[in-house]
Amino acid sequence: MRDLRNIVEQMSIKDKMAEITQLCGSGYGEDENVFMGIDYQFELAQHMVDNVGSVLGISGAGRVKAIQKKHLETSAHKIPLLFMHDIIHGYKTIFPSPLAMSCTWQPGLVKVSAEIAAKEAAVSGLHLTFSPMCDLARDARWGRVVETSGEDVYLNALYAKAYVEGYQGNDVSSRYKIASCLKHFAAYGIAEGGRDYHTTEASEYSLREYHFPAYKAAVDAGAKMVMTSFNALNGIPSTGNQWLFQDVLRKEWGFAGTVISDCTAIVELIHHGFAADEAEAAKKAIDAGVDIEMVSNTYYNHVQRLIENGKLTEAQIDEAVYRVLVMKEELGLFDNPYKDADEGLEKQYVLCDSHRQAAREIARESMVLLKNDGVLPLEKNAEKIALLGPFADSRQMLDSWSVCGEEKDCITLKEAFLEKTDIKCVSAPGIMKYEETRIEEAVKLAESSDVIILALGEDPLMSGESNSRMDIALPGYQELFAERIFSLGKSVIVVLYNGRPLAIPNIAKKASAVLEAWFPGTEGNRAVCDVLLGDHSPGGRLTMSFPYAVGQCPIYYDRYSSGRPAKDVYHSDRFSLRYMDGQSVPLYPFGYGLTYTQFKYGDVILSKHLMKKNETIMASCVIKNVGERQGTETVQLYLRDMAGSLVRPIRMLKGFERVTLKEGEEREVRFMIGEEMLKFHTLETGFAAEQGKFRVYIARDASVEEYAEFEFFY
Ligand code: BGC
Repeated sequence: MRDLRNIVEQMSIKDKMAEITQLCGSGYGEDENVFMGIDYQFELAQHMVDNVGSVLGISGAGRVKAIQKKHLETSAHKIPLLFMHDIIHGYKTIFPSPLAMSCTWQPGLVKVSAEIAAKEAAVSGLHLTFSPMCDLARDARWGRVVETSGEDVYLNALYAKAYVEGYQGNDVSSRYKIASCLKHFAAYGIAEGGRDYHTTEASEYSLREYHFPAYKAAVDAGAKMVMTSFNALNGIPSTGNQWLFQDVLRKEWGFAGTVISDCTAIVELIHHGFAADEAEAAKKAIDAGVDIEMVSNTYYNHVQRLIENGKLTEAQIDEAVYRVLVMKEELGLFDNPYKDADEGLEKQYVLCDSHRQAAREIARESMVLLKNDGVLPLEKNAEKIALLGPFADSRQMLDSWSVCGEEKDCITLKEAFLEKTDIKCVSAPGIMKYEETRIEEAVKLAESSDVIILALGEDPLMSGESNSRMDIALPGYQELFAERIFSLGKSVIVVLYNGRPLAIPNIAKKASAVLEAWFPGTEGNRAVCDVLLGDHSPGGRLTMSFPYAVGQCPIYYDRYSSGRPAKDVYHSDRFSLRYMDGQSVPLYPFGYGLTYTQFKYGDVILSKHLMKKNETIMASCVIKNVGERQGTETVQLYLRDMAGSLVRPIRMLKGFERVTLKEGEEREVRFMIGEEMLKFHTLETGFAAEQGKFRVYIARDASVEEYAEFEFFY
């Protein structure tokens, strides 16, 4: 490794301040490749622009190379620029949203998607992606649930690891690899009221049990960078939180990489009421260990004075600069500042057939069949299909965090049907807004068709950052429109395109089938057709519970019991954990999803009922395909600790296995239960398993009640 400390020594304090600043790429002119100024309120000194350490949000091999070349001429120490971007679920070949991909229950597929995203991004000049998002999501009102892997701790950690491994491989300097920045540390997903940017409160117990594991998994997988979150956590904004970054991340978890603020989050410390002015905001962020400031300029404008006043030491700044240089060295940028940027390869790989094919396969796996009274798969000899609703002939298949993806590259549902079948397809958008004539046009088509498909959902800008909702029903007049179509008395298939769990009890009741397609990406509608026509059996399972009503949010399966648990799902007992005016269980639980066959579960069998320290128990269950087609079942293992020194969740996912069985076939599915699975952050003995009874559920989803029991003792 070259002598980076020596480079740091040669730098003036101003050079250092520029190195730990990140510019927003929108300031670079399209053709000139010089910095033209940006639409932010910050005034930028030319020295800072010439010596800035990294840029956010620019891509394209030619453009990146030109900017890098110019930068190497202006930078006092010839330090290459680092190009970062939000490549969240694909660069231009867009995969389903992260929430959708999590429903595959296949981290291996997520890893493939990240490898492809990295390859397209790398040849287009990028060095780092702000992904994975490891925030645990429990509140469907929060728009950013679409960027998460859902509500479960165990799955969330598996996916975090898969993303990092996919982007970075074993060596981030190698071809087609980019660095990974996990975000948003920490607990950003529990914004009060589901309102983005809002404050969060969580005990250390719940942080460690629920929220930290996925961030930690990404750190353990070697992620090079960590981003702060916008929220205040227990009264301290994350971006100035020494406990989070110094104590937990660096000391406890041994993270040696770079920390970046979220966009303008340092200057926002003032709005939080945590810093009186920009200088104090910069000091608090540096003290917390935030190395790079994204977009705002408090570091550049104030660090020198803070050092002169004795409020910061130059050694603190040197450490931050050094970490940025280490990352550049690890990416190989000092040897080749252009890394993989290559216009020829960009043409060859971006949106190439094999990437599109992978996107189609992953989209198929991510869809969740929520209801099917037998109408699916569709008869291929149907004569006429009516495709109705705002998504019937729409390219809005990308969510709001598909920044490099383009709708023009997506196929519509109607096009996908026409491409795949000879069935006559007619479409009408129905309504988002209220327009009587459009309803009548759709009704006419429905009346004269054999098959009616209602393609409903949310506009992509209704989820994602800042897009929280206080009502999570289908927006606009879609419910009304659906009602009109249901009233024809024909069988109706609903396909949903959305970025969050929706409250859709009426659709669930009246539709003959409901397929949750999420925002399925560039190839999404080909995948929808594959599933509807039975060329692929749906196998996705929900990773977030769907409520009956928004008032149930946050709703998640691994909650605590309370002192007055409901005795039955009807909540007939008044003084129990319930709502008096509606359901308190979800409409569709975590883990739920159907396929084109049915499976029967036998009893849960344990190899023994007493388990000593260092021993294991085998839990098994015979699963039988009792339907008429081959199918894949995601068999889930949940445990419940019946009594602890702290209250424990009513169940927690501890493992799962996907089994493919032919019609009539059965198989014994086995899980080994060891002490590790029983551990939690106890009051007295740290992360440990406590003695007592445990329940074991081997189930199709988190709502199943049958269990077996064992006792653990030392
Ligand atoms: C978001 C981050 C994102 C960053 C850079 C912020 O507004 O919260 O998730 O990575 O912008 O685009």
